[in-house]
Amino acid sequence: MITLGIEGTAHTLGVGIVDSEANVLANVIDMFRPPQGGLHPREAANHHADVVSGTIVKAVSNAGISLKDVDLVSFSMGPGLGPCLRVAGTAARSLAVALGKPIVGVNHCIAHIEIGNALTGCTDPCLLYASGGNTQVIAYSDQRYRIFGETQDVGVGNMLDKLGRDLGLGFYAGPTIEKLAKDGDKLLDLPYSVKGMDVSFSGILTAAMSLKDKGCRLEDICFSVQETVFSMLTEVTERAMAHIGKDEVLLGGGVAQNTRLREMVDAMARERGGRSYVPDRQFCRDNGAMIAWLGNLMYNSGVRMEVDDTEVRQRFRTDEVPVTWRN
Ligand code: ATP
Ligand code: FE2
Repeated sequence: MITLGIEGTAHTLGVGIVDSEANVLANVIDMFRPPQGGLHPREAANHHADVVSGTIVKAVSNAGISLKDVDLVSFSMGPGLGPCLRVAGTAARSLAVALGKPIVGVNHCIAHIEIGNALTGCTDPCLLYASGGNTQVIAYSDQRYRIFGETQDVGVGNMLDKLGRDLGLGFYAGPTIEKLAKDGDKLLDLPYSVKGMDVSFSGILTAAMSLKDKGCRLEDICFSVQETVFSMLTEVTERAMAHIGKDEVLLGGGVAQNTRLREMVDAMARERGGRSYVPDRQFCRDNGAMIAWLGNLMYNSGVRMEVDDTEVRQRFRTDEVPVTWRN
């Protein structure tokens, strides 16, 4: 069975094609980069509308198939930015109706988890999902992916992006901050904000900005921010693992592309006698292959949707979805 998945929750329009053995036949990503300032939902949606048809055509061609070989269409139903979600949803509905094929709308956060499970070979991990809009520690229990800890304000990636913008590093600052941090060596004082199983980042952002005003080196600020926020994430992940008795940890989301975060989480897992897993970078960031793969899992476990059931859900929570595809 061949599934085509369309991702469009935020800045990225992605189209992926997978078969039922989790072979990724295509994974085409087109990211919107605002010319200046942050991400405006309407502008990102316009970008997605401009590129979605071309991206579908490219994915089909990369997969070496033709559109009529597609057996199922899936798309990111939420959570995300309304205008962006609606573009992906409209494209998916049109395609499914035109091809006369079934459609499944999927939860974007669960797609990050399932692609990691499928591609890394872990079996029952605790997931640290760290992206722009989301920061959650998730584990499977009793037919749900349950959230054990999460951010109380912004996602860690959005905080990095906001910091990067204020420091003049441009949008999508995670990779630039990572690069600068490599040349930092002085650990500056920043608030360490862990509350029980939850974390928060806005105080750190404010404090980091004031360090710049005090004349601290950019490299040291980036280094200190990374050390602080990644320690926080590692701590809550470890606590969740201890609490639920899991020894595997899976990283997902765009921030999981960061080498320092990977190192910290891996060291923690090894010290506990466990292991960490992280999928290839193209499957950490937002992408269509993960949407296609979750669509495939849901459909094969009996989930069916009519077009009328596929309205987008901006605040679609990870723990709302009955997990029908796992025992
Ligand atoms: P979601 O909808 O799941 O919240 P998203 O819209 O944030 O996803 P992703 O592609 O999952 O999209 O993640 C993008 C985020 O990842 C951005 O905030 C970006 O700065 C961050 N990021 C990317 N690469 C790195 C890196 N090397 N280090 C730290 N952060 C990174
Ligand atoms: Fe994402």
